[in-house]
Amino acid sequence: MGKVGVALAAGCAAAACVVAAVMVGRSVRRRRGWRRVVRVLEELEEGCATTVGRLRQVVDAMAVEMHAGLASEGGSKLKMLLTYVHDLPTGNEKGIYYALDLGGTNFRVLRVKLGGQRCIIEHDVDLQPIPQHLMTSSSVELFDFIATSLKDFVEREENISEPSQRERRELGFTFSFPVKQTSSSSGTLMKWTKGFSIEDAVGRDVSQCLQEALSRKGLDMQVTVLINDTVGTLALGHYHDEDTVAAVIIGTGTNACYLERADAIIKCQGLLTTSAGMVINMEWGNFWSSHLPRTPYDAELDADSPNPNDQGFEKMISGMYLGDIVRRVILRMSQESDVFGPVSSKLHEPFILRTPMVAAMHEDDSSNLNEVAQILKDTLEIPDVPLNVRKLVVKVCDVVTRRAARLAAAGIVGILKKIGRDGNSGMTGGKTKGGSRIKMRRTVVAVEGGLYANYTMFREYLNEAMRQILGEDVAPYVILNVTNDGSGIGAALLAASHSASTITENTNFIVI
Ligand code: BGC
Repeated sequence: MGKVGVALAAGCAAAACVVAAVMVGRSVRRRRGWRRVVRVLEELEEGCATTVGRLRQVVDAMAVEMHAGLASEGGSKLKMLLTYVHDLPTGNEKGIYYALDLGGTNFRVLRVKLGGQRCIIEHDVDLQPIPQHLMTSSSVELFDFIATSLKDFVEREENISEPSQRERRELGFTFSFPVKQTSSSSGTLMKWTKGFSIEDAVGRDVSQCLQEALSRKGLDMQVTVLINDTVGTLALGHYHDEDTVAAVIIGTGTNACYLERADAIIKCQGLLTTSAGMVINMEWGNFWSSHLPRTPYDAELDADSPNPNDQGFEKMISGMYLGDIVRRVILRMSQESDVFGPVSSKLHEPFILRTPMVAAMHEDDSSNLNEVAQILKDTLEIPDVPLNVRKLVVKVCDVVTRRAARLAAAGIVGILKKIGRDGNSGMTGGKTKGGSRIKMRRTVVAVEGGLYANYTMFREYLNEAMRQILGEDVAPYVILNVTNDGSGIGAALLAASHSASTITENTNFIVI
């Protein structure tokens, strides 16, 4: 070989070495990067751990806080609000009633025709998105908008079907925010949740705000009941199944209500002398306990929210927040390594990843996880994510959703414990000390909200946790029943059962 040949060969060898070194370097970096994101995932799993032991601690804490919230005003972060709903629909209600359901990004108006004998003859619904600017405007603007839509709906409906027989149309108003009720048809807004923030409405009677807006628009309609969406769900659940004792919503926000004995509501003794019980709106979204598995992502989400230190349970469970927890984890992973490529600016945008997208990624059953790739690309502008990284994203969705579902299950069992239906208390217990069996009472909890109704993995995790906490002997007696549109239909049912014209024939005082 001549000199030139030797030089050429040496050059090629050197180039090959450089290429090899670059490739080795890249693969070492890739491996290190991969190890770092796996570590982030492991930390997340540890932080979100919900062993059955921990869930039982949450159950106990929920029951303790319920007692404290019933004992005195401000006694707990659980507000345990009085609803003044002492009686639930019997099934005998008849007539045409309207309902207005405000509690999320949409509001709905309904016209419900009841035929007695637990028969809902007709039910027409109109759904409208609330323009974003109205969620932070003034109460007059918001209520005028709602009253106008309601008036249009009533006029449309009464043109095509028979008008209401009553002198004055009656309306059940579902307002799904914390309200301090002064009666079953009035109450003042305590605070906003779920992204609403209309300062001048806080402290005002929302029923009156609506009634005034209806008068301004010339609509002759009476707000017969003002309720929380959980109470509507309980009313509908109870209408179909009298063993229904509680209702839970797991949607954009989360909350629960249940039937409580009057003598257990210590903070208002004297007020309740004529009734056996009352529905209590727990506002469980604000529940807090040191046993809740909290991660740095939860702390950051809370600090960045418009209501820090508030709605802690809701921020771990509900649809408004799960997507944003997942976004924060992916951002951290992306900052820790380049497995997602350069950090996408979209990862810094709060609430860009919505919970339905988390559900779609979590439940992607294609072999290549095409849906995951699509959502990462379209929503987070992260293209070409390799399969192993897509799997990692699915795992993040799984961890965050599983924790949420299991905590919601612990919350439900907490309520059952408080009312002696968890199989461990007194006469409802599954077994006596001697081991002989005691008859359990069938206990139904009405459940609504997209997370439970439409997100299969969430529902399965929640059901599984219920069985684990309650145990195989007791779990079969506890039935979670998905109701459909309790927040709307339930409001119409309660308007009917609280209507002056039907109150005597339809009263079904709560017997606990
Ligand atoms: C509200 C509750 C409501 C729940 C479900 C929460 O943010 O505070 O009043 O019941 O969302 O809609």
